[in-house]
Amino acid sequence: MRTVYLLSLWLHVVAAGVWIGSMVFLGAVIAPVMRRLDTTRSELSRQLWEEVGRRYRIVGWMSLALLFLTGTINIGLRGYRGSDWIEGTLFAGSFGRTLLGKLLLVALLVGLTLWHERRLGSQSLAYASPEEWRRWRRQAAYLGWGMLLLSLLIAGFGLLLARGGFSF
Ligand code: HEM
Repeated sequence: MRTVYLLSLWLHVVAAGVWIGSMVFLGAVIAPVMRRLDTTRSELSRQLWEEVGRRYRIVGWMSLALLFLTGTINIGLRGYRGSDWIEGTLFAGSFGRTLLGKLLLVALLVGLTLWHERRLGSQSLAYASPEEWRRWRRQAAYLGWGMLLLSLLIAGFGLLLARGGFSF
């Protein structure tokens, strides 16, 4: 069982690294390059954003799904049962309260990710005027950095969880 637990924990940490790392790469490397392209070849930058968005969405949702799966397995391997989720006993004590805080932040993150995709998704980009396109790009950038900060906070909650939770 210990091997399964360690394997699941390893996958959880790797998925967190992919999720956070890909966001940093997008914001710190891809976005500035696209911004430079925007002034000279804005049509190309729009097309590239569509492609990047399509590929990135797969990586993002797969790592989030893996985080859910391995996170739930880890909770099970810590000895909690399905009834602890239903009766709420899982959320008692420092581990439980930290877990609850983390899950609420994860729910917020999933909501922001869906909003980011729907509002700024590639389908609407094709029909946007240049002004709309610029405005949406700005909104996407703010939202993207906000999502990164939130993810870092969630990772912090994860570290606390692995050490028994925060006593508050
Ligand atoms: C963006 C989403 C998430 C990120 C970035 C994240 C990140 C992390 C990190 C960095 C750790 C610390 C691992 C260690 O120090 O050993 C951790 C632990 C943990 N995470 Fe997550 N996590 C996420 C989502 C979830 C979800 C959705 C669940 C539950 C369904 C979950 C449950 C756990 C548990 C139970 C631990 C403690 C594992 C243990 O020590 O047994 N996480 N997480």
